[in-house]
Amino acid sequence: MIGKLNHVAIAVNDLDAAVTLYRDTLGAKVSDAVEQPDHGVVTVFVELPNTKIELLYPLGDQSPIKGFLQKNTSGGIHHICYEVEDIYAARDKLLADGMRILGSGEPRTGAHGKPILFLHPKDFCGTLVELEEI
Ligand code: CO
Repeated sequence: MIGKLNHVAIAVNDLDAAVTLYRDTLGAKVSDAVEQPDHGVVTVFVELPNTKIELLYPLGDQSPIKGFLQKNTSGGIHHICYEVEDIYAARDKLLADGMRILGSGEPRTGAHGKPILFLHPKDFCGTLVELEEI
């Protein structure tokens, strides 16, 4: 069901420092920062030959990554995103297998303008998993 690894998301407390690290120290191609008000984050994408790194920085008081960054003061891996061909078929298969989908269970539009879902970390080896329809 799952296809390529679309991205690994890393939450950061200092976006400028993270951009400098990936662009200048690691020599990667880094996008501009984009505010995602619907998701309460600012995103920067780091393009690698085989996948992307999504740098996440909190946006607003209700940011869903605020608590994570309070616990992980140096930042940390927040979620991983797998590609799926049909997000509704993926959701229905996961629900039939007893897996938990976060939120309403209806796909939302993600940072790339494509439908996404988040899966409960307790059902996936302690890892927050995002599915994105490609
Ligand atoms: Co993501």
